[in-house]
Amino acid sequence: MKIIVVGTGYVGLVHAAVCSEYGHEVYAYDNDLEKVNAFSTGKAENIESYVNEPGLSNIIRETLGRYLFFSTYFESIAEGSDVIFLCLPTPPNLDGSTDLSIYNTVVELMAQILARRRDKRRVVIVNKSTVPIGTTRHLQRILSQHKVPNFGIASNPEFLAEGTAVDQARRPDRVVVGCDYEEDFKNLRRVYSQFVNHVRIKYIETTPETAESIKYVANTMLLTYISFWNGVGAKIGERISNVKIDDLRIGVTADERISTWGSFVSNGAGGSCFGKDIRSLIYQLRRLDVNTKMLEASYEVNEYQKIYLVERAITEAGFEFNNKTVAVLGLAFKKQTNDMRDASSIRVIESLLGKGVAKINAYDPLAIEAAKSVFSPLKNILFEKIVYCQTPKEALEGSHAVFISSDCDEFRGLSGTIENVVNLPYLIIDGRRMIPDYQELINKGYDYLAVGASYIRGNAKGEERPHLKVL
Ligand SMILES: NC(=O)c1ccc[n+]([C@@H]2O[C@H](COP(=O)([O-])OP(=O)(O)OC[C@H]3O[C@@H](n4cnc5c(N)ncnc54)[C@H](O)[C@@H]3O)[C@@H](O)[C@H]2O)c1
Repeated sequence: MKIIVVGTGYVGLVHAAVCSEYGHEVYAYDNDLEKVNAFSTGKAENIESYVNEPGLSNIIRETLGRYLFFSTYFESIAEGSDVIFLCLPTPPNLDGSTDLSIYNTVVELMAQILARRRDKRRVVIVNKSTVPIGTTRHLQRILSQHKVPNFGIASNPEFLAEGTAVDQARRPDRVVVGCDYEEDFKNLRRVYSQFVNHVRIKYIETTPETAESIKYVANTMLLTYISFWNGVGAKIGERISNVKIDDLRIGVTADERISTWGSFVSNGAGGSCFGKDIRSLIYQLRRLDVNTKMLEASYEVNEYQKIYLVERAITEAGFEFNNKTVAVLGLAFKKQTNDMRDASSIRVIESLLGKGVAKINAYDPLAIEAAKSVFSPLKNILFEKIVYCQTPKEALEGSHAVFISSDCDEFRGLSGTIENVVNLPYLIIDGRRMIPDYQELINKGYDYLAVGASYIRGNAKGEERPHLKVL
């Protein structure tokens, strides 16, 4: 198969690499020349400065120049292609609707080029981007208006999670393909031949509109589930004496109908998709006069959850942020990625700065460069108070409190560093429940505030929880 992937971001680059690994001839197109030049070197550090996914640079190094090619010139690669995957950004507008301006510009340009192509073999144009329900039909109209010969359309939404994107592209839970015609289904079966009739992977063939809907309903369901645990499970653990959140989670999810993923409470779910997709679905459903209160609540609970621990530090722990130095560990929205989009750390840092902290010592193993552009002092002068650190130890030095905002594995061993580096009194704010031996820290005098449990003051005896109301 000759495959073109349009847009080499998190989705497009991983998809292009994994397709090339399966022996397809893949041309990855992007209009960002610097990016394309960096990928064309095949060097890990150049690739990872844009998309840092475990295993990705190894595949690119193996297939580059044999099965995988990068280009900034669509016209030169379009001839003879069987399938074109659109992996373009579809960010949110302020009102929650989806900004399709980049998508529409590229589709227009692509239609003009495809209309001129000499080769008359069938080409399927596939929406892999998350696009509002009905966009694939719109794509079909545009291509027809331009009189593109012998084309088909498909919706093939992407479900990867950053940090494990390569593993998931090699072994997805499901592949969803929505087409109108058997010849287009057949083309996509050839692309995904390793997943068709697989014992574990569900290969679902349906209509384009259903495929688009599957993506929105799945992401909305996931955020609703996370918000349920943060909004209900975590609050029970925080407000009611003697409730242990981990046992609560295990007890509830022992029911086979209820999944474990998303039941781990946190300071909110970030990332480029959940927030934008639930808001887009709310927008789409409102236009159909559907009551969207439940979805709005899921979104709002998640947004509030991101800053809730800062509020709790004041109200429960009595901590005064004014003029203090706070270490913020974990800037990307989760471990193993450098993606800062919608990361909880953004809201946390904004909130801390709003409370008058003197300095923020920020650390992340992968996302410092990405964070620097998010926290540009040109956007907010207060961002000048952020100091970027090379290690958690450096971030902890001189701080009065630490906020753990992501689930990087290295934070699990943080207690030793805390003991060596900081002075008492000291407040640990644990947004991901990353410190398994927190009780030892409490015994040594550190104050501990975690999502899903009530605040415990340093040296507190046993289960002392002074702020709790007895029910
Ligand atoms: N990131 C995820 O975890 C994820 C998961 C599932 C689905 N999605 C969806 O996939 C789509 C892509 O997401 P992403 O995270 O890969 O986005 P991204 O921003 O990382 O990548 C988009 C790429 O498109 C390129 N691009 C922009 N304008 C272009 C143009 N005019 N011509 C050619 N290329 C252009 C950019 O340079 C960039 O490389 C979105 O619809 C998103 O909702 C993302």
